[in-house]
Amino acid sequence: MTLHIEPSDTTIGARILDLPLHRPLDEVEQAAVEKAIYDHSVIVFPDQQISQADLVRFTNYFGIAVPHVRKQLDNRELEEIFIVSNVKENGEPIGALGNAELTFHSDLSYLHEPGTLSILYAIEIPAEGGDTHWCDCYAAYDGLSDEMKHRLVKLRAVHRHYVEGQNPETPASHPVVCTHPATGRKALYVGPHLTKYIEGVSDAESEDLLSRLYEHALRPEYVYRHRWGVGDLVVFDNRCTMHRRDPFPDEQRRVMWRTQIFNDVSPVP
Ligand code: OGA
Ligand code: MN
Repeated sequence: MTLHIEPSDTTIGARILDLPLHRPLDEVEQAAVEKAIYDHSVIVFPDQQISQADLVRFTNYFGIAVPHVRKQLDNRELEEIFIVSNVKENGEPIGALGNAELTFHSDLSYLHEPGTLSILYAIEIPAEGGDTHWCDCYAAYDGLSDEMKHRLVKLRAVHRHYVEGQNPETPASHPVVCTHPATGRKALYVGPHLTKYIEGVSDAESEDLLSRLYEHALRPEYVYRHRWGVGDLVVFDNRCTMHRRDPFPDEQRRVMWRTQIFNDVSPVP
């Protein structure tokens, strides 16, 4: 069995066109998809027609789908599904994250044991805006000068959610450069949305270093931009990518179902 994998024209991201996900995958297919995730970090399955149960089954091939740490309304068939949406019903948001820009982050990095894979499945898409951009954090790391790589060895950064109640009691701290447990490759692991400061250096040095790293990681050659179509399912590996989302008009509807996987492990240098 060979999947037709079409890499994007940047260093990250690929599409798999010929694999319907409304039916169970056999072990060979599961292994081929897992390999594609490790090779490309972001995999797009366009034009799927799946149920919430299909999404959870697919997620469980790669770990265990867990309910998100943020509580949501009782409006989902399955608790493992997290709704990302700006839509309001009876004045109440049906999901999380609104319509504003989200800057680069790796999901759940404010936890001691952050998310590994996340999956987004597009139910409704606005006519304008709302594109998601993934940064290749392996390539961003590889593209740093030797001097900068050397400077980052042993540095750790504190990550916090902007909603204080989401944070663990002791703040999560992770290496600035992490090694992916499956690929063995090093990836930059800081982003402007959730990383607060680098430990053990002055505030000024932390700010200077983080802003230089963010500017570097924003370079277009490291980024895959996704213009969503209804039915697109995207799997991404938070251990070697960051993502950001463009804003979109609040009067337009955007609804995504999302699942996430944890590994019960902390990132390692
Ligand atoms: C998320 C997220 C981006 C998007 O669900 O963690 O960042 O495009 N979503 O909805
Ligand atoms: Mn996210």
